[in-house]
Amino acid sequence: MRKPIIAGNWKMFKTRDEAIEFMYQVSESMPSNQLVDSVICAQAPMMRCLIKRQGQNLRIGAQNLCYEDQGAYTGEISGQLLKSYNVDYVIIGHSERRNIFGETDETVNKKLKAALRNELLPIVCVGEHLEERENNLTNKVLTKQIKGAFADISAIEMENIVLAYEPIWAIGTGKTATAEQAEESCAFIRKLIKEMYGLVVADQIRIQYGGSVKPANIDEIIAKENIDGALIGGASLDPEKFIYMVNAAVKK
Ligand code: 13P
Repeated sequence: MRKPIIAGNWKMFKTRDEAIEFMYQVSESMPSNQLVDSVICAQAPMMRCLIKRQGQNLRIGAQNLCYEDQGAYTGEISGQLLKSYNVDYVIIGHSERRNIFGETDETVNKKLKAALRNELLPIVCVGEHLEERENNLTNKVLTKQIKGAFADISAIEMENIVLAYEPIWAIGTGKTATAEQAEESCAFIRKLIKEMYGLVVADQIRIQYGGSVKPANIDEIIAKENIDGALIGGASLDPEKFIYMVNAAVKK
């Protein structure tokens, strides 16, 4: 049995006061972390005020980290610093990082190693462009991204990794992959992990779906066999919607 994991990716939204207000509104309503892992991934400067207000049932994550632990890397954020703030999770290789800020499978792999080295729990994102899907290249793209991201990563290290399948054409577009499309790609990813790491790792690794997830579609998505949670952008900014969606995962 894999425990579901719902993570809100706030991207570059909310001010400090808005973030605090959100925490105030959701904190009493978070289901037990025995049933679901609930996470908010926020901009780095608001991390401290969120961590002060997190509880066992709602944990905080970062949206990026540097692949080095310290040094002359102006503007970067180290895994070491995140750990010292008690940050639990970090998103790695989000498509916005890959497409806007030039991250590659190689940097994703280096960042993943930095996260593991600093005992952060990585949420590694993969997903195809619309054109790639239309040209039947989805599985090829996912294979390249996953093999690249997990180069030199051991089966033991895989235990602490969450994968997020986020088709780029479904992000922020309101165009959700159908539950069947999402399941098909998540099942493919699990099969690939089985080929790379064997049945035990494939059975235990958690795979989220991300891309226009909202209260209206989460129940159908989360019910799918190979989907263990969601990485949610826009809808996670709203406290009531976030509460609904973490509770939807409990029912899985
Ligand atoms: P939306 O839920 O806004 O489509 O964003 C998905 C996403 O990119 C989460 O990381």
